[in-house]
Amino acid sequence: MQKNYGVKFLSFSGALPSKVVKNTDLEKLFDTTDEWIYTRTGIKERRVVDNGESGLSLSLQTAKDSLNKAKIDPKAIDLIIVSTATPDKLYPSMSCMLQGLLGASNAACFDLSAACSGFIFGIATASQFIYTGQYKNILLVGVDIHSRFLDWNERSVAVLFGDGAGSVVMSSCMAKDDELMGFILRSESDTKLDLTLDNENVTFSQFKNQISPNFVKMNGKAIYQFALRVVPEITNQILDKVNLSIDQIDCLVLHQANQRIIDAVSERLNIPKSKVLSNIQNVGNTSAASIPLAIVDGIKSKRIKSPCKMLLIGFGAGLTWGASIIDCNIN
Ligand code: UT7
Repeated sequence: MQKNYGVKFLSFSGALPSKVVKNTDLEKLFDTTDEWIYTRTGIKERRVVDNGESGLSLSLQTAKDSLNKAKIDPKAIDLIIVSTATPDKLYPSMSCMLQGLLGASNAACFDLSAACSGFIFGIATASQFIYTGQYKNILLVGVDIHSRFLDWNERSVAVLFGDGAGSVVMSSCMAKDDELMGFILRSESDTKLDLTLDNENVTFSQFKNQISPNFVKMNGKAIYQFALRVVPEITNQILDKVNLSIDQIDCLVLHQANQRIIDAVSERLNIPKSKVLSNIQNVGNTSAASIPLAIVDGIKSKRIKSPCKMLLIGFGAGLTWGASIIDCNIN
C-alpha cells in the first residue's frame, strides 16, 4: 500500500473502576474456590463499575489522560473511535457521548464492534485514515463493562471478566517514521454461537412477557481451543509480513483472556516469559480494554522499555482475531 504518511502512537492510558471483586468474594456468590479460579485462569481479582461509574466515565478518564500526555487539545482530534461490545447505550454511540464530554467538537465519531479484538481492529482502522492523509489526530478507546452482562450464578463465565477502559492517541508523521509495522485482521463466523451476548429477546408479539436478561454465554473449551489455533498461526503470518523473527520482538501483548492461554501460546511461539506481558491476575478479562491496560501495566512496571517492538494480538467473539506490530517510543 502506498503510504503518504506514517502513524505515531503518542500515549497509552487506562482507567479501572474502583470496586475490587476478589475470588474470595465470588466464593460467597456461587460454588467456587479461589484456588479453582486462580489455577484455571490466573485471575485473583477484577474491577467492576459501581457508584455511578460507567463505560463512559472510564472512557473519559482514560481519554483525558491520553490527550494530556500527548499534549493534544481535544479540538485537534479529527476522529474518535470507541471499540466496545458492551456500550452504555445502543445509541447514541459511546464515541459521540465521549466527544461531548471532551469538547472534541471537530471530531467525527463512531463505535467499532469486534469484542476482545476491538483494540486491534481499532488500530488498523485508525491507521487507514492517517495513511491516506484524511485525518491527523485520532483518539482510540477500548472499553467494556461486562459486569452488567454476566449471570452471577453461572460460575464458569462470571469468574473471567472485569470492567475497564484503555486508550491511545494516534497521530500522523512522515511516512519514513511510521511506527505501525503491519497488521492482519481475521474473522470467522461463530456459527455454533460459542461466545454470544444476545440483544434480541423481546419482539413485538412478546412485548407483554417479562424481559429475560441478556447474559454472556460461552463454550469455554471451544474458545480456548480457538485461541490456541489462531494465535500462533497469526503470529507467524504477521512476522512473515513484516519480515521479523520472533526473537526480534521485545514484547508480546496478548489479549488477557486466561493465563493458561498466555502461557501455552508463549510456549508454542518459543518466546521467553520475560517478554510476555500479563496483568490478568488483577483485572481479569477486560475485553476491548485488555491490550491497552496490559501495555499501561507494562510501562508502569518498566517491563516495556523504549523503544519497543511490540506484538499485539487480540481474539474473541465474532469470531474475530487480529495482530499488529508496533515499533514505538512508548510513553
Ligand atoms: O475473551 C475471550 C473469551 N474467553 C476465553 O478466552 C475463555 C477460554 N476458556 C477458558 O478460559 C476456560 O475454558 C474456562 C476458564 C472458562 C474453563 O476452564 P476449563 O478448564 O475449560 O474448565 P471446564 O469448563 O472443563 O470445567 C471443569 C470443571 C467442571 O466440573 P466437572 O464437570 O468436571 O465436574 C465445571 O463444572 O470445573 C467446573 N467449574 C468450576 N468449578 C469451580 C467450572 N467453573 C468453575 C468455577 N469454580 N468457577
